[in-house]
Amino acid sequence: MITVIRSIEDWNQYRANVVKNRSLGFVPTMGGLHEGHCSLAQRSLLENDVTAVSIFLNRTQFNKAADYESYPTDFAQDVAELETMGVDAIFAPDYNSMYPDSYNYRVSEHVDSLPREGARRPGHFDGVLTVVMKLLNISGARRAYFGEKDYQQLELVKGMVEAFFMPIEIVACETVRAFDGLALSSRNRRLSDEARRQAVIFPQILETAQSNKEAILLLEEAGFEVEYVEEEGGRRFGAIVLEGVHLIDNCKIAVTATV
Ligand code: PAF
Repeated sequence: MITVIRSIEDWNQYRANVVKNRSLGFVPTMGGLHEGHCSLAQRSLLENDVTAVSIFLNRTQFNKAADYESYPTDFAQDVAELETMGVDAIFAPDYNSMYPDSYNYRVSEHVDSLPREGARRPGHFDGVLTVVMKLLNISGARRAYFGEKDYQQLELVKGMVEAFFMPIEIVACETVRAFDGLALSSRNRRLSDEARRQAVIFPQILETAQSNKEAILLLEEAGFEVEYVEEEGGRRFGAIVLEGVHLIDNCKIAVTATV
């Protein structure tokens, strides 16, 4: 039976009485779980004695209230899914327990958080890094699992852990894709059937275009609103909007693309 924990006090009891000296793997999520989240939990189950998943819809990382309000959540369904997988515990605190300081204290990064998602979502990464630091500190976990789909987030979390000497290992997990190659995301559920079919070409173009410029042209021709296509460190990053839904993806590229 999975243990659902709602307060930091109860979490501390769980750590003292159940986790004890065993290794703990931790998967932070905002709920609305899909197979991508499940693969993170599966990896943790393989590598640790105890696995906990947090479900906390972190409103400080949403720069648009509408995005926060429309984020798909189904707590009962998430609990059932995680229980079936054999996850040991769910940590699901409320806003006031996580932000007793009313978000007066924040973690900010001033270089790598500026481009791409940082440029189009002001304040997003402050909210992400702040809540991730809180969650990892509370968890006391040995390892925490993050997906490569949110690559910029993953790199920033790794950087934060290093910069603040946080005693935890960040494990990067490959993006999980649907049968047709679209990266799994909670946001995919907001697409109509037609847009969902159309979206399949997004990762294909990102991967095969000879340059960022070509990728932008092909994406626009395919009917997407392109937010950016950029390359860094041998990866190409893209973000598009389809039916008002923001989709991101990234892939390794063989050749250095031109602008
Ligand atoms: O990737 C997410 O779901 C969120 O950004 C995270 C890491 C759980 C922080 O709220």
